[in-house]
Amino acid sequence: MRMVDIIIKKKEGLKLSREEIEFFVRGVTDGSIPDYQASSLLMAICLKGMDDEETLNLTLAMVASGDTIDLSEIPKIKVDKHSTGGVGDKTTMILGPMVAALGVPVAKMSGRGLGHTGGTIDKLESIPGVNTQLSQEEFIKIVQDIGLAVAGQTGNLVPADKKLYALRDVTGTVESIPLISASIMSKKLASGSDAIVLDVKVGSGAFMKTTEDAQKLAKAMVEIGSGAKRKTVAVITDMDRPLGKAVGNALEVKEAIEVLSGNGSDDITEVCITLAAKMLELAGMGDFNKCARLAEGTIKDGSALEKFKQMIKAQNGNEEVVDNPELLPSAKYTTEYRAASDGYIFSIISDRLGVASMLLGAGRATKESVIDPGAGITLLKKPGEMVKAGEPIMMLHANSESLFKDSLDELEKAVVISREKPPQTPLIIDIIQ
Ligand code: URA
Repeated sequence: MRMVDIIIKKKEGLKLSREEIEFFVRGVTDGSIPDYQASSLLMAICLKGMDDEETLNLTLAMVASGDTIDLSEIPKIKVDKHSTGGVGDKTTMILGPMVAALGVPVAKMSGRGLGHTGGTIDKLESIPGVNTQLSQEEFIKIVQDIGLAVAGQTGNLVPADKKLYALRDVTGTVESIPLISASIMSKKLASGSDAIVLDVKVGSGAFMKTTEDAQKLAKAMVEIGSGAKRKTVAVITDMDRPLGKAVGNALEVKEAIEVLSGNGSDDITEVCITLAAKMLELAGMGDFNKCARLAEGTIKDGSALEKFKQMIKAQNGNEEVVDNPELLPSAKYTTEYRAASDGYIFSIISDRLGVASMLLGAGRATKESVIDPGAGITLLKKPGEMVKAGEPIMMLHANSESLFKDSLDELEKAVVISREKPPQTPLIIDIIQ
């Protein structure tokens, strides 16, 4: 088999066989296919697409490129959740405890943030002492003991994705539905859960800018899940507005504690209850409405908050932060971003808000950047609310006052104030199963 023939075949819009896809993924992983040929095929896939069978074969070949996690020692149905990334998305820290509090084990592998999007691992590591770099044995033991662990990726999981993603990043081939869905689903399948709930974000802060594209991505991923015999559901949620009120690591942990205590804002609470209910439904806990009531009940009776505390303790962290969030790191300086005119906050553009928070130290501009756990932004007003000129809309938190200027400049571009009240659009846009 020759790589050049595979490239030409896809360039002509023809379907690749399973053997050809496996040859490509093997060659990328062991380095026998040079980057220029791999990139060329990636571009051909971007332009000509792949059908469901090709996408499933690509995903399975990627899973086979490295280790897989065996969770069979943990009894019951294990449900995983994945979000396609967003700004201020702290859902894992909320719905993991909700689902686990109802006896459904959650063994969650999460990632770090890059650029304007945050990552759950960075957020959890802002809790003093928390260890997210668990060995596979430690990870499984914690899930067996308390039903919930959140860890960074261990071992050599999907090495083909690491190579392909790095190439896609620099060859303009990230935005392809078959490539994104194979990348995400290969990591989910390798992580070993029996069922998967996908939170597909749509809007300015997300990969998918339109509902139509988000639906296509969701369908492609659900199709892969069922092809791989894992129950998979995708919930399409709005990322045109920031979720909740906090962006930044410790600030988001604090907000997660507020939501788990029943004091969170309505939007984040609604998204978490919906995603948790879908996870519970896949775990066989009843229909969606019953599961939503059960999920809500874990906030009301305090069991989800207690589960979060147990998880922090099991992962070596100081669980006292739950009762006393002042123990979380905080920034030395704050300043306010104020409304430029009277009117309604028409929108707060999520990706610009993410960049403004990154500029304060809460995110990574490059993979090597070091995160400041206390930095970030809290929203004092949300889209749809009325403001007067000069009224504070956001609070910026940083450890150096010199960081405020660039961040405030970015916020000028993020906030749109209008005489018109913005239309109320649903947060949960679609559910694909
Ligand atoms: N997230 C991933 O893991 N892979 C992609 O290709 C896009 C988003």
